[in-house]
Parts: sequence; C-alpha cells; structure tokens
Amino acid sequence: MDKQKRIVVTGAGGFIGHHLVKRLKKDGHWVRGADIKYPEYEASAADQFEILDLRKYENCLLATRGGIDEVYNLAADMGGIGYITANHADISRNNILINAQMLEASRQNGVPRFLFSSSACVYNQAKQKDPDVKPLREEDAYPADPEPGYGWEKLFAEELCHYYYKDFGFETRIVRFHNVYGPLGTYDGGKEKAPAAISRKVALAADGGEIEVWGDGEQTRSFMYVDDCVEGLIRLMASDYRDALNLGTDELVTINELVDMVARVAGKRIRKRHNLTGPQGVRGRNSDNTRLREVLGWEPSIRLEQGLAITYPWIASQVAPQRVAEMVDAV
Ligand SMILES: NC(=O)c1ccc[n+]([C@@H]2O[C@H](COP(=O)([O-])OP(=O)(O)OC[C@H]3O[C@@H](n4cnc5c(N)ncnc54)[C@H](O)[C@@H]3O)[C@@H](O)[C@H]2O)c1
Repeated sequence: MDKQKRIVVTGAGGFIGHHLVKRLKKDGHWVRGADIKYPEYEASAADQFEILDLRKYENCLLATRGGIDEVYNLAADMGGIGYITANHADISRNNILINAQMLEASRQNGVPRFLFSSSACVYNQAKQKDPDVKPLREEDAYPADPEPGYGWEKLFAEELCHYYYKDFGFETRIVRFHNVYGPLGTYDGGKEKAPAAISRKVALAADGGEIEVWGDGEQTRSFMYVDDCVEGLIRLMASDYRDALNLGTDELVTINELVDMVARVAGKRIRKRHNLTGPQGVRGRNSDNTRLREVLGWEPSIRLEQGLAITYPWIASQVAPQRVAEMVDAV
C-alpha cells in the first residue's frame, strides 16, 4: 500500500462517494465522509462521518480541518434528466455554493490536493444532436453551450479550479463523469438515472409486460460501472493532470438497447411504451477516451451487460417487497 493518507470525501452519503469511501478504506487510508445525509442502503465505511450542509462556509472548514491530504468533492444537488431539467435555480445555487466554498476552505486548511467532480453535461449541446454522435473530446466543452443549470455550474466550477491553481498554486483535479451506475445507487424518488430507472421498471413489470421509456428511445449514451469510476478517480487524483478529463466508457447504446439488455439480464420479455413528452436530454453523448488513456494509462473496461448483471439483481431485491404488495393489491 502507498503511505496511509487522511482523505475527505464529500457526498459520502451518495452513490459514488459511498463506493469511493469503501475502496479508500480497503486501500488502508483514514477517511472522513461529509454529507447532509447518511448512505441510504448500508452503513458508511468511513472512520468519521459528519452530517454537514456544505452550502455553509463554516461547515466546509469543519469538513476539511485537521491535516487532510486529499479532498474528493463529490457533494452535489443532482439527479437524472427529469430532476436536472426541472430544478435549474436550486441546483445551480446549491452547487455553486458547495464548490466555491469547498475549494476555499480546502485551501485555507492547507489541503494539498482537491478533486472536483464535473460532468459530461458541460459539453456543448450543438455537438450532441445526433444519436450517432462523435465521441466528445475534452475541448468540445467550448465554445460554451452546456446543459442549462447543472451543466453551467459544473463548467464554471471547473474554471474556478483552474483559477485556484493559476492564482494560488492550489492543486486541483477535474473529472468529467459520463453516466455512472451500479448497486447502492438511487433507483426511485425522481433523482434516479436511466439504468436504475429502467432496472426498477423492469423489476416491477411482469414477464411479457410493458414499461414506459422517455422519448423515442433512440437517444444514445455510454454508461460506466461504479468500480471503474472509483478506480479512475483514484488514478486521476494521483496523477499530475490539472485539466478536465473524461471518465466514462465509449460503449454507445440507445436507450431502447439499454432496455433490451436489462430485460435480457432479468430474463423477462418487455414491451416499450414511448412517452414522447418525457425529458430525454441531448440526442447522443459518448466519451472520447483518447486523453484518458494517455494520462492514466488505463480506461474503464467493464462492459454494460456485465455491470447490469450485478446492478439489476440488487435493484430487483430492493423493489421486491413493492412488487409483492402490488400483486396482493391486484388480487
Ligand atoms: N452518477 C453520475 O452518473 C454522475 C454523472 C456526472 C457527474 N456526477 C457527479 O458526481 C458526483 C457524485 O454523484 P452521485 O451519483 O454519487 O450523486 P448522489 O446524489 O448519489 O450523491 C451526491 C451527494 O451529495 C450530497 N449533497 C447534496 N447537497 C449537499 C450539501 N448541501 N451538503 C452536503 N452534501 C450534499 C447528497 O446528499 C448526496 O448524498 C456529483 O458531483 C455529481 O454531480 C455524477
């Protein structure tokens, strides 16, 4: 093992943060988690877990106190396309506060290294109009025309990280995630993303049943399994790369293909009912991993069907009581 480090993970009550804490503990580090909530599905592995609203500067100072070596700033107000389309003002305000103040508090507390979790939502929307989209290279974020709200605040926070390095020599790392999925992720309530939402719908449907799909289902995306995501995060933090870097797969699928894959994993025949008024985001989005390979000498390798074979059973086990209740009601 490398030397033991003292590491802060914000958003440790959330999906990626929770998995990252587990991995950092397995690697032998001391970890403090911070979030406004505890993890929903199992206890955190963190040495300390503090409930802190990171929109408040004094809480950011608390989160980063005491000789911390690295901060992974994953806390954010976020969700799937339905949620980020409906909440531009709240999301932008909350995340600008969290990111600006976590940066400053980390600097004031002398933290040597800070990682900011950005998103593929920063990419110029005009470059994502075709389902057969050209994979997005890091420079395709400019000229800036990102997703309203969520994409704009992520892009601005990336810039802020650059300014902190330029003006203060503060070491920042910037990752642009492309659609992360896996067990222990939100699967209902409105903040879930496509793989989890589709898995939930398929789990609740009978064999031969029908599920609703937003849009015509021909919109395309690539999806990354959470273990690959965590590996990439740790590698990027250890690197000396300060520009934004894609972290995703380039296995492009349509949402219809995603549904078929989940149905195959579930062993069910599923029909799709397309809701053309549902939010569907950009038409196509894929990750160009050329720079990722150059910088990290590595890229995510878990195929979507492999990852779904682990994720679907977990979601199915979570919704099983609901399905039983619905079957009893129907009798
Ligand atoms: N999951 C993805 O596909 C994806 C894609 C692109 C970017 N990201 C980014 O990765 C990071 C982690 O995403 P995730 O999927 O784990 O999301 P998540 O919603 O599961 O986790 C985010 C966590 O931040 C916490 N949080 C929100 N507001 C807070 C506040 N004021 N103070 C403290 N904590 C607060 C939430 O409670 C939540 O636990 C986020 O920055 C997100 O924008 C994720």
